[in-house]
Amino acid sequence: MKLEALPSIDGNYQLQSYDKTRDSFSWEQVEKEFSWHRTGRINMAYEAIDRHAEGALKDKIALHYRDNNRSESYTFEEMRQLSNRAGHLLRSTAQVQKGERVFIFMPRSPELYGLFLGALKLGAIVGPLFEAFMEGAVVDRLEDSSARVLITTKELLPRVPVAKLAALDTIVIVGDMPDETYEGVNMISYNAAIQEAPSELQIEWVDREDGMIIHYTSGSTGKPKGVLHVHNAMIQHYVTGKWVLDLNENDTYWCTADPGWVTGTSYGIFAPWLNGATNVVVGGRFKPEDWYKTIEDFNVTVWYSAPTAFRMLMGAGNDIIQQFDLKSLRHILSVGEPLNPEVIRWGKQVFQMRIHDTWWMTETGAMLICNYPCLEMRVGSMGKPLPGIEATIVDDNGVELPANQMGNLAIKRGWPSMMREIWNRPEKYDSYFTANDWYVSGDSAYKDEEGYFWFQGRVDDVIMTSGERVGPFEVESKLVEHPAVAEAGVIGKPDAIRGEIIKAFIALRTGYEASDELIEDIRQHVKKGLAAHAAPREIEFKDKLPKTRSGKIMRRVLKAWELDLPTGDLSTMED
Ligand code: WT7
Repeated sequence: MKLEALPSIDGNYQLQSYDKTRDSFSWEQVEKEFSWHRTGRINMAYEAIDRHAEGALKDKIALHYRDNNRSESYTFEEMRQLSNRAGHLLRSTAQVQKGERVFIFMPRSPELYGLFLGALKLGAIVGPLFEAFMEGAVVDRLEDSSARVLITTKELLPRVPVAKLAALDTIVIVGDMPDETYEGVNMISYNAAIQEAPSELQIEWVDREDGMIIHYTSGSTGKPKGVLHVHNAMIQHYVTGKWVLDLNENDTYWCTADPGWVTGTSYGIFAPWLNGATNVVVGGRFKPEDWYKTIEDFNVTVWYSAPTAFRMLMGAGNDIIQQFDLKSLRHILSVGEPLNPEVIRWGKQVFQMRIHDTWWMTETGAMLICNYPCLEMRVGSMGKPLPGIEATIVDDNGVELPANQMGNLAIKRGWPSMMREIWNRPEKYDSYFTANDWYVSGDSAYKDEEGYFWFQGRVDDVIMTSGERVGPFEVESKLVEHPAVAEAGVIGKPDAIRGEIIKAFIALRTGYEASDELIEDIRQHVKKGLAAHAAPREIEFKDKLPKTRSGKIMRRVLKAWELDLPTGDLSTMED
């Protein structure tokens, strides 16, 4: 549905005219803003931190960090030194070299950011893991990437089955040391070693196409896949930070995402620092009062969050907002799920500002379709492609469709932050692209006559719950490990706050009876094995699940049952 357009807001934005910029755009022009264009010496961490520490922003705050116990600020020069020391620590104790996978599994803290940048300075490929992951999720990722070095904490170490991980030979512990030791595995104390580490470091210069980061993400089938991004992505992180987030050196910016997800790295680390902004990082859980207080206390000017968070804030009521001074805010953005028109209307009412939707994915590495401050907004639309990006709608044969026809949202291959590899699975990587080089996203959408894109849904069974992407296959696999579960089918069920919730249909093994205790026990099993956000909120028992003749559970039929929709073609279903 098309809703009324909001008027453009006035302002001196970095992207002055969308049309003009798009028509005269070239990526090479953006590249030329980086010194490596002349010197050939590339490293993301250098561009994000050291470059500023060597210049006018040396003593400017790069990071404001806060959680329940700590409140600390670091200048660009202090971040440079912190990451240099962390780099030394990794080089001298773990001999980390270019191209090696260094995984970081710990809660947000200044140490996490220092170590992340330090590992990048050695040319390592960083694999960030969300702190809420349980053993099953951790082991899949460390095994697949054959990570040799892991950075974690005493509290999280019990979720790492060290003995099972053949490639792992060094564990760096931040904070108190655990009692455990493992044969053949070096245990390094960050707290002890960082004291000794010098604050100057020889940076490893890399090629623009060298690996930088792996984010694991879920599809509708198979285990999570490792999406590899390279240093070249910085071109797009920088330009989207400038034109979409509208960041400049006077901004204090807050991205609410954890670095375990791509938003928390591309836009929680790279984009803000490449643009010289002050970056706010807040640990701990979501609480409306704390969120507004973060904006007030740090004078946040630009805020990037997710529809599910906005819906929760909306649900908490507008009275709370009156208790805080939010006048520093000048620009708000959203990503992860469709941004509901009512959320935009609420945002206008309480912040006197538009909330700008942005569309992209783990695989795309950076924003591709966005609402820009200078552009008229069509409420409910994801906006228009970033200058330099060619987006379209294709049918299932890869043929482009005309305006207003729904199909697969596709992007012309070759944008700077495009994933370069699915770790260990080259055939999977190729499967994303059509013969004429369209990357097919897995989302369905249409484009209107004016070039605005409108999200319609996922083409596959991937679930987006509270902004987190969950593969039904992973949850189903975990469910069938439970002794009572014979078969399981998992779907996303629409939910007003969370976007979707996870619902599991389960056929029990003989001898087991449905009960509330059993439901809770099954939920706990997934929670403890994968992660809390992957546990089904609803479980329904069925005698039998709908399956194809080849034995594949038909999630589409489960979904139709749940939503009271026609089940469609059942010709492949077994009797
Ligand atoms: C999927 C990617 C990269 C940011 C966080 C999610 C959905 C993302 C939007 C939006 C509607 C959106 C899509 C996409 N999605 N942004 N603005 N409107 N849907 O990254 O976990 O890789 O998930 O999130 O379905 O394919 P992700």
